[in-house]
Amino acid sequence: MFTGATLRQLARRASASSSRGKTLAGTLAGVTAASVAVADEAEHGLALPAYAWPHDGAFRAYDHASVRRGHQVYAQVCAACHSLNLICYRNLVGVAYTEAEAKELAEEVEVMDGPDDSGEMFERPGKLSDGIPGPYANEEAARFANNGAYPPDLSLITKARHDGLNYVFALLLGYREPPAGVEVPDGMYYNPYFPGGFIAMPKMLVDGGVEYEDGTPATETQMAKDVTTFLAWAAEPEMDDRKLMGAKWIFALSLVCVQAVYYKRWAWSHLKSRKLVVDAVR
Ligand code: HEC
Repeated sequence: MFTGATLRQLARRASASSSRGKTLAGTLAGVTAASVAVADEAEHGLALPAYAWPHDGAFRAYDHASVRRGHQVYAQVCAACHSLNLICYRNLVGVAYTEAEAKELAEEVEVMDGPDDSGEMFERPGKLSDGIPGPYANEEAARFANNGAYPPDLSLITKARHDGLNYVFALLLGYREPPAGVEVPDGMYYNPYFPGGFIAMPKMLVDGGVEYEDGTPATETQMAKDVTTFLAWAAEPEMDDRKLMGAKWIFALSLVCVQAVYYKRWAWSHLKSRKLVVDAVR
């Protein structure tokens, strides 16, 4: 594959540079470092661009309008294959939806409950305390429907992958034509950000794929950004509270620190300002 070709190129470049008088050790080190980088790319996928997420930084909260739009993308696109097991409808209240809106969303799904007094299971409309239902009954059904590949649960995906936000965003937008000479296996799609380059998930986002209720133009990039923000929230719903609490503690502790320094100077002042005189004559 192209990895081999690139390695050969590197080796050629390396031998060219050694003829220009570099030491053998230096060349070897160069080749090793370069082949590590190439092997790394094949193993871990293309290096990720770093995007400036609006909620990066100690004093930044999630963009909640984006979380709401992202939930819409998840529900209308991703939920066809991916579950979100760790999130309940009540988690969305005050984050992306009002309580009434979240109740309405929950009631749209049928939930198996029971047993009732006669020992029968029954179906009822969802409640706020219900989890968001996954598309498949179990992993086997999921694999069966997806050519053997397993669409992972997305609750913690931004934590489960290195540099998760940038990864999910780049992955969703990373579909492209394979380079010349690269054969894409049947049922796979070329995506250089996915480790190995072939992913079983087809390209899912196309311009206008959803119709945002707030009127934001649903471009491919916008949807990718919104759904990634939503997944970031799903993996770390406590982030806003945590940062707020952190800011409060840092403020309070810095007052305590000022007091402590003042108190220490006050308590030691009679020792620090004492003058000892040795009177050797008397
Ligand atoms: C048609 C079914 C389908 C839909 C719809 C779908 N996916 Fe996937 N997704 C898959 C499959 C299958 C895999 C496993 C790919 C593999 O292992 O090759 C996957 C894998 C992933 C992964 C994990 C990649 C990794 O590093 O393991 C992420 C993240 C992901 N999907 C995000 C999304 C998002 C976000 C959406 C909605 C915009 C979405 N998917 C919609 C089928 C789907």
